[in-house]
Amino acid sequence: MCGIMGYIGNRQAQSVLTNGLRKLEYRGYDSAGIAVFTGETIAVRKKTGRLAALEQQLAASPLHGSLGIGHTRWATHGRPSDENAHPHVDQSGKFSIVHNGIIENYLALKRELLEKGVTFTSETDTEVIVHLLAELYAGDLVEAVLQLTRKIRGAYALGVITEHEPDKLVAVRVASPLIIGLGDGENFIGSDIPAVLEYTRDVCILEDGDLAILTKDDVTILNIDTKQLINRERVQIDWDQEQAEKAGYDHYMLKEIYEQPRALRNSMAGRIDEAGKTVTFSGLQLRPLLNDIDKVFIVACGTAYHAGLVGKHVIERLARLPVEVDVASEFRYRRPLISEKTLTIVVSQSGETADTLAALREAKRLGSNVLAITNVVGSSIAREADRVITTLAGPEIAVASTKAYTTQLLVFYLLGIYLAQERQTLDEQLRIALIEALQQLPEQVESILANADEIRLFAESIKQEKSIFFIGRGIDYAVSLEGSLKLKEISYIHSEAYAAGELKHGTLALIEEGTRVIALATQEELYEKMLSNIKEVKARGATVLGISSAKTIELHRAVDEVWLIPSTYPLFTPILSVIPLQLIAYYTSLALGNDVDKPRNLAKSVTVE
Ligand code: G6P
Repeated sequence: MCGIMGYIGNRQAQSVLTNGLRKLEYRGYDSAGIAVFTGETIAVRKKTGRLAALEQQLAASPLHGSLGIGHTRWATHGRPSDENAHPHVDQSGKFSIVHNGIIENYLALKRELLEKGVTFTSETDTEVIVHLLAELYAGDLVEAVLQLTRKIRGAYALGVITEHEPDKLVAVRVASPLIIGLGDGENFIGSDIPAVLEYTRDVCILEDGDLAILTKDDVTILNIDTKQLINRERVQIDWDQEQAEKAGYDHYMLKEIYEQPRALRNSMAGRIDEAGKTVTFSGLQLRPLLNDIDKVFIVACGTAYHAGLVGKHVIERLARLPVEVDVASEFRYRRPLISEKTLTIVVSQSGETADTLAALREAKRLGSNVLAITNVVGSSIAREADRVITTLAGPEIAVASTKAYTTQLLVFYLLGIYLAQERQTLDEQLRIALIEALQQLPEQVESILANADEIRLFAESIKQEKSIFFIGRGIDYAVSLEGSLKLKEISYIHSEAYAAGELKHGTLALIEEGTRVIALATQEELYEKMLSNIKEVKARGATVLGISSAKTIELHRAVDEVWLIPSTYPLFTPILSVIPLQLIAYYTSLALGNDVDKPRNLAKSVTVE
């Protein structure tokens, strides 16, 4: 996720900015840049790759000045490149901005600006902001930024400077994080607290709709809609650097679990039309890929494979297309039946997994078009696929994948609805209702996260178990597999996920007095069947935790404990039911004293076969 740093004061901005950006490296990035007001003009240096590459450039041609903005970019619109790196400047070179977030209506704005003769130098959504700002400027930077916020739609944190008003730095926050660091004769902006900790421990956390005007000696905050002055609390930070990188959470995994509502909102942004009636993947030209297909293959590894299993249910139900799902390491050696009429969807958080990449190449060799769902824009898989849909989860650092999984599910939902639109396999009313339900998911995830306390107790109660079972039917079975994998990965407790109806054909023999079973029962049409399967394990002595959205007496009677999740369309329940499973894995690992973020024997990105 992009990192922003900004400075106004008496020090040399160049070193403050690069120091701050270094402290934001943990967020992940593919290029970096700074813009400094040198006394006459705004000068920019930016470079693809690590910060060291930018610093080399700065060593060769340093920038002198005490007002500046800096940025580390995590590509979303446009590949990683020097041109796409921030800061961006307008045509006159007098305005410069850095941006974190996504401008949903950038295509329409870009079209208007192109018609007016503006020349663009990057492929980013961000560049429209700086051209618009220059156009709106009439002698008052704050007024121009306020007007700008009325034109752009989406999520954004902005840092803005202009050589017309070199005594100020303007910052805005709308749905992307931004903080102010308060110094003595100097002030800072940063995407996150670690960026400013070296200089000050006094910060002010901006909220959505805040516009901050920073001068050397003062910070004023106003609301972008009402223009009213706002008093934001000054907070004293006593975290060390490492705690600050984890935003105060004990582990990256927990931080990433809690980032899911935002990751889901970002992944949805700009992909649903304003009226909430259709799904759009603008600029992607998906249509030629979908013409005439008669079969879909989903290929992936690990958690991404589990997302694919849900994807199969979604595409088959909504778009009425047959879908096969394969583990990438199997797919490449089993001579899959693929033709030009097959669409292969590869799913990979990192975009670098060797088996998935090899499967992609095999699918292409056999004549299939390949659509990638990945979290890393410039990755190998993104480069080699015919089309790419990005999950906008932001960098995932913990080995056990969480927010990548839920955003992969979200992309499958969007894709399923999109395919249904194209193939006219879904009634319009139902489509609109599905889109509405989709938009409620981030909030529903938030409500589950707000009640996570009982999960700690549950984890404490299972930490000594030798083996745990996850059971479910249909789409619940797919989620059970992910819940079981999470637990195995970080608690090292053996667990098994089983299709509940299949238990009686063998695995039931393993159930004995006190065996712990986690049963997912979220699918209305399978509810009765699932209750019978729960009774089967209960009758053999199992202790059962049920996860469901149905508040029925039968379920309460059948299990030992019930956790309720909010109601949604049956196809969408995985995004909700997986949250408690992620937390069970996390707290069990924690209770056992394991290294949660870096479990033994595992790697985040597996680039060997
Ligand atoms: C590794 C990771 C898993 C991940 C899998 C696929 O095994 O530890 O968490 O699910 O690779 O990774 P990808 O980046 O392709 O999604």
